[in-house]
Amino acid sequence: MSMAQRSDAVHVRAPGKINVYLAVGGRHDDGYHALATVFQAVSLYEDVYASPAHDFSLTVSGDVDPGTVPLDDRNLAMRAARLVAQTAGVTEGVELHIRKSVPVAGGMGGGSADAAAALVACDALWGTELGASVLHDLAARLGADVPFALHGGTAVGTGRGERLTPALAPGRFDWVLVTSEKGLSTPEMYAGLDELRARVGALADDPPLSLDVPIAVLQALRAGDPLALAPSMINDLEQAAVRERPSLDLLLAEGVQAGALTGIVSGSGPTVAFLCAGPEAAAAVQEELIAAGHRALHVHGAVPGARIIG
Ligand code: C5P
Repeated sequence: MSMAQRSDAVHVRAPGKINVYLAVGGRHDDGYHALATVFQAVSLYEDVYASPAHDFSLTVSGDVDPGTVPLDDRNLAMRAARLVAQTAGVTEGVELHIRKSVPVAGGMGGGSADAAAALVACDALWGTELGASVLHDLAARLGADVPFALHGGTAVGTGRGERLTPALAPGRFDWVLVTSEKGLSTPEMYAGLDELRARVGALADDPPLSLDVPIAVLQALRAGDPLALAPSMINDLEQAAVRERPSLDLLLAEGVQAGALTGIVSGSGPTVAFLCAGPEAAAAVQEELIAAGHRALHVHGAVPGARIIG
């Protein structure tokens, strides 16, 4: 029987994210950069199934290149399961299965979604009832984007991205995602940005350690207005991603030509997110990009964070 079908499995679904806005500041001593970002969770999900077991094990299915996802303790979901056990004094193990839909190393926080889902699934499986605040702390220890995958919706992230403030964004936003077969490394994109900035002398002497999200971004989100949001979307990591993958520049232009309001590299890339005026506009953009040979998905935001299904 496949893991997904085990009747004793806890099934948790967690969303991928887009950074609608991402300003990167200076690099701290721990290697992380100060951020001011706005995350939006979108309707592309990771499904995690957790079943009782003596040991810890992990399998992965979905549209993934098997070599690209580690199945041992390098995997963030595995680390999340062990962290719940350690924190709550659980001596059992867990059999984890991940059905992936979010691109691997795509800049959409797929690994972080797996970790958030594993936290919630193990907490439910073992009945440890750790509560929202402890789960948030564990999430932040696992990675900068994990707390957001737990909470979902639309949120401002500061610090390393783990300090979250929910943003009011009641409307629906339609996105067309163009994914790439080959991922990009997040640490390499941050390092690439540092290098680009050092070259022009920016941030060399006095890197800003606190940054703000412009009010225009928050107002557009509150108004549910994609036309107002489009011109205020920025991603500082985009220049590093485009330098590494010059074809992204062309793709960004292609999406706008196809009718998108704007396009942005998602997080550290290489997934590109095109904001569209509404569902029909997005369907048309998706169709045109597929006809041009791209892998394009139509998703919407905001959607909830990691949730138990069924
Ligand atoms: O926290 P996470 O494991 O997702 O981060 C991956 C890498 O991305 C970090 O090791 C770091 O190199 C980079 N990063 C950063 N500043 C952040 C978030 C991530 O430099 N705020």
